[in-house]
Amino acid sequence: MRIVYVNGEYVPEQDAKVSIFDRAFLFADAVYEVTSVLNGKLVDFDNHMKRLKRSMKELNFGPSIKEKNFLNFHRELVVKNKIKEGIVYLQVSRGIAERDFAFPNSDTPLTITAFTQKKKLIDNESEKKGITIITIDDLRWKRCDIKTIQLLYPSIAKTEAIKKGADDAWMTMNGYIMEGSSNNAWIIKGKNIYTREADNLILKGITRQAVMEAAKTLHYRVTPKQFTVQEAENADEAFVTSATTFVTGVVKINDRKIGTGKPGVFTKALRNAYVKQALKNLK
Ligand code: PDD
Repeated sequence: MRIVYVNGEYVPEQDAKVSIFDRAFLFADAVYEVTSVLNGKLVDFDNHMKRLKRSMKELNFGPSIKEKNFLNFHRELVVKNKIKEGIVYLQVSRGIAERDFAFPNSDTPLTITAFTQKKKLIDNESEKKGITIITIDDLRWKRCDIKTIQLLYPSIAKTEAIKKGADDAWMTMNGYIMEGSSNNAWIIKGKNIYTREADNLILKGITRQAVMEAAKTLHYRVTPKQFTVQEAENADEAFVTSATTFVTGVVKINDRKIGTGKPGVFTKALRNAYVKQALKNLK
C-alpha cells in the first residue's frame, strides 16, 4: 500500500485528505515539482527546490518553505514505498480559504502534499524505440516558466496525440515549436543541437539544464534557439528531455520520419552522458 505525505504526516493513500476549499482544487493555485529517483536516491534535488522556490515567489506565496524538511520527506517517501526507480511528485498550494478570486492573507498555511510512483526510467521501451510526436497549437497562458498545476491544456494536447496514434504533442506558436506537453523539445541538424531559449513561454527544464552540461563533456555544441515545425520535421535527430523521460529520441514528427526512424546516435550518446552525470548527482 502506498504511503503519501500530507502536511507533515505520512498516511496510506486512501486516508489522504485535502479540503475541497483548497485553492489548488478551486483555482489550480498551486505549484509542483517532479523529481526522479535512481538507485533509491533523488536526482538533481537542489535544482528542483530552487525552481519550486522561484515558482512560489513569482506567484507571491506567503509562507516560505524549509528545504531540509522537503529533502527529509522526499527521502522518507522513497524509503517507505521502496522506490528504487521512479519519481516523487510534490505539490505546494496556496492553502485553504473561502472561495474568492483574490488571494487570501499571506499567512494562510500552504498545503504540501507528495507521493511516489514506481517507473522504469532506464532501459524502457521508449528509450529503445523512441517516441512519435504531433504538433498542436500552444493555447496556454504566458507564464509557462512557472511550474503550476494548470495542466488542462497539456493534458488535452497529449490526449489529442494519442487519439492520432502518436505518443505526445509538441506545442507550437506562429510556426515555432515551444515545448512538449510535459517535456522540452530538441532537434539536431548536422553538428548543431537546438532547444528553444527559456523565457516566460516555456518551462526551464532541470533536465534541459543538465543535458546542456552533459553535452559539454561530449564536446557537442548546444545552441538555445527556437526552431520551426518544418525545421523539426527535417531534422537529423530529435529528442525530448524531462525528469520522467531523461533524454528520449523522437522518431516521427507529424507524418515525417526523423533520421532512420530509430533514436539517433547523438541522442543516445547524450542520454548516456546525462544518466552517468545524474548518477553522480544523487541525494
Ligand atoms: N514535466 N516542459 C514542461 C511543460 C514540463 O511539464 C516539464 C516537466 C518539462 C521538463 O522539465 P524537467 O526537466 O524539470 O522535468 C518541460 C514533469 C516531468 C511532469 O509534469 O510530469
